[in-house]
Amino acid sequence: MFAAEIYQQRRLELVQQLEGGIVLLLGNVASPFNSADNCYRFRQDSSFLYFCGLDQPGLAAVLDVDSGRETLFGPRQSLEDVLWSGVGPTLQDRAERVKISASADFSDLHRILSAAIDGGRTVHVLPSSRAENKIILSGLLNKDIDTLNRESSSALIKAVVALRSIKSAAEIAELDEAADLGYQLHMATMKMVRAGLYEWEIAGELEAVAARAGRMLSFPPIVTTHGEILHNHQRSHQLQYGDLLLVDAGVESRLHYASDHTRTVPVAGKFSPEQKNIYQIVLATMARARELIKPGIAYRDVHLSACRTLVEGLKSLGLMCGDADRAVTAGAHALFMPHGLGHQLGLDVHDMEDLGEDYVGYDDKIQRATQFGLAGLRLGRELQEGFVLTVEPGIYFIPELISQWKNEGRHADYINYAKLEKYLTFGGIRLEDDIVVTASGSRLLGRPIPLQVEDIEKTISN
Ligand code: GLY
Ligand code: MN
Ligand code: MN
Repeated sequence: MFAAEIYQQRRLELVQQLEGGIVLLLGNVASPFNSADNCYRFRQDSSFLYFCGLDQPGLAAVLDVDSGRETLFGPRQSLEDVLWSGVGPTLQDRAERVKISASADFSDLHRILSAAIDGGRTVHVLPSSRAENKIILSGLLNKDIDTLNRESSSALIKAVVALRSIKSAAEIAELDEAADLGYQLHMATMKMVRAGLYEWEIAGELEAVAARAGRMLSFPPIVTTHGEILHNHQRSHQLQYGDLLLVDAGVESRLHYASDHTRTVPVAGKFSPEQKNIYQIVLATMARARELIKPGIAYRDVHLSACRTLVEGLKSLGLMCGDADRAVTAGAHALFMPHGLGHQLGLDVHDMEDLGEDYVGYDDKIQRATQFGLAGLRLGRELQEGFVLTVEPGIYFIPELISQWKNEGRHADYINYAKLEKYLTFGGIRLEDDIVVTASGSRLLGRPIPLQVEDIEKTISN
């Protein structure tokens, strides 16, 4: 945990942004794997963790905006609990550890919330992507789940996003720690790459590095020789000489801050000339983004400018043609990069996105585009000092997409479909690093993972 005062201060800043009512922050419960006594590894709700710091299941906090009173709700330990799980701190002890003065049994929560609602008070709640939490909230607030989803408090969401988006020095230290462990994940897997291995063996090593450090991965890793399938979670291919292997993986720090890195490496140990050409374009696209990132610039503009670099590179290979600026404005480059340049990173790998992607990535000034490709950009708004985000360009040759666009003659002024024929089995390359926006630009988080062609090739052959 951070110091107790940090959580107290965050809660204070949260309620100061609201006009009145009650804030209910619901933690996660243990989630059964196949029976109530056999659960998935516990992961606390990130907003609960941010404001209350307590990493145990079954807790909720109620913050009274008007009176300032704070109460922690949770289970009281029974003798049965002691028998199976040992003696733990009391609920009141847990509350006091994070400077919450009062505690009460979770079973009191329904009555307290009902009394507040009957008294005409607003109960502010956040949306949750967890099924259990939706069910619990539905019971606590006497509302069906659809109504609940519609009625989450946009005032609370905006207040939470405003606070969680700017990372403090202590949070950045956690993110650096996660990124350092991310370095170890990627070094371990890069060094084991060779023809004959299965993708699941690489994925197993990622889990092992995290588990040996007492940590957990920050999302199910993508380990694939089919990088063109953007979130490919199949891991059944055997690595062949000549393949590219894409590993997109991250890990959590001690306090659950995430890393998220991608590297794409040649199984042969050396890139073929064709692979190297595409790799260098992705690298140049990433470098262009890094040059531009600083407070005040909209990430949508960084994305579009980086995409122009990508188009210039593809033009140099004869795969695209025409004016790069116009090609990007038309969205022609999205054939090769149908996703956005990155997203915020923090306690979640796609930070805060269960609160609503547009609350996190967009605002009144910059709204999400509808154009294919740009619509997939998770973060479009202006960057601020203290934002932590990913930079993750890619080039993919997706046969189904190419075939559809070609048949429609889509963007035929900008795309050389004839030349694309020989790339249909190329796969895809993505590179991803994690950065913090500083006063004058950005800084890479964690130890640099090999990125340049020669460094990747050297690491693989070691
Ligand atoms: N791991 C998914 C992503 O990079 O956003
Ligand atoms: Mn990733
Ligand atoms: Mn990412």
